[in-house]
Amino acid sequence: MSNSDRSRPAKNSALGKAEEIPAALRDGGKTRTNRPYSETASKPFPIAQIALLLGVLIAGGAATILVLAPQNRLPTAIVSTDPSDAPTSSAANPQPTAENVLNHLSYTEAPAAELVSIGGGYRLRKAAAAKFQAMVAAARASGVSITTISAFRSVEDQKRLFFGVGAARGQRPTKRAEVSAPPKYSEHHTGYAIDVGDGTVPATNLNQNFDTTPAFKWLKANAATYGFELSFPKNNIQKVSYEPWHWRFVGDIHSLETFYKAHNLQPK
Ligand code: DAL
Ligand code: ZN
Repeated sequence: MSNSDRSRPAKNSALGKAEEIPAALRDGGKTRTNRPYSETASKPFPIAQIALLLGVLIAGGAATILVLAPQNRLPTAIVSTDPSDAPTSSAANPQPTAENVLNHLSYTEAPAAELVSIGGGYRLRKAAAAKFQAMVAAARASGVSITTISAFRSVEDQKRLFFGVGAARGQRPTKRAEVSAPPKYSEHHTGYAIDVGDGTVPATNLNQNFDTTPAFKWLKANAATYGFELSFPKNNIQKVSYEPWHWRFVGDIHSLETFYKAHNLQPK
């Protein structure tokens, strides 16, 4: 707001006050001993004086701020050109953005150096891989068989899945996106997401009735102990179709930031 904008409501409110005062007082009624309001308000000279005084005060204040402002002490984050001060978002430490396409949030591909094998040709980020393998071993010790169906996927992999499979099925992108993320928008790019099945009931693989299997029930009870959570529960806020087989690691700071920092469309 400019100073001239600011002065207008003050002037209007002064006029308003004058109108609220009963006419008998406004024109200097007999009971009044002070000078009538209208007399004071109608004289231009005091207004000019007040305006001049205000102008001097404002100009003086601005000059004082300019003189006293510690311009060489601005926060480092604003003025620094040192590359070491730059945010660590890069290929080595990808950060999600709040962008989304067809309700899927954007993710950066995990660097190959961060990925390790979890067997069967599948890879996850190191921290997620260690916890996943511990989780599978614990499930096995309880008589539950958790198998891997998919883990890290590159953007190229996702292009084949989204466009290739979508075309083969004759699905439009809006329909395809209900069950598959567009390339660049899959949690699988992060190296933290994994699709799992139940080794004793492979017919339920990538099917919503996977949630009737011992593997799903065991995961529901125990996955959080290993830092995993279901990405797309029923009625998730992203409106992605229910995927009981798709779990993501959120058990360290980087994975937590990857899925929660910049996004406001999170499943509860
Ligand atoms: N399958 C889920 C939607 C993903 O790729 O992120
Ligand atoms: Zn998945």
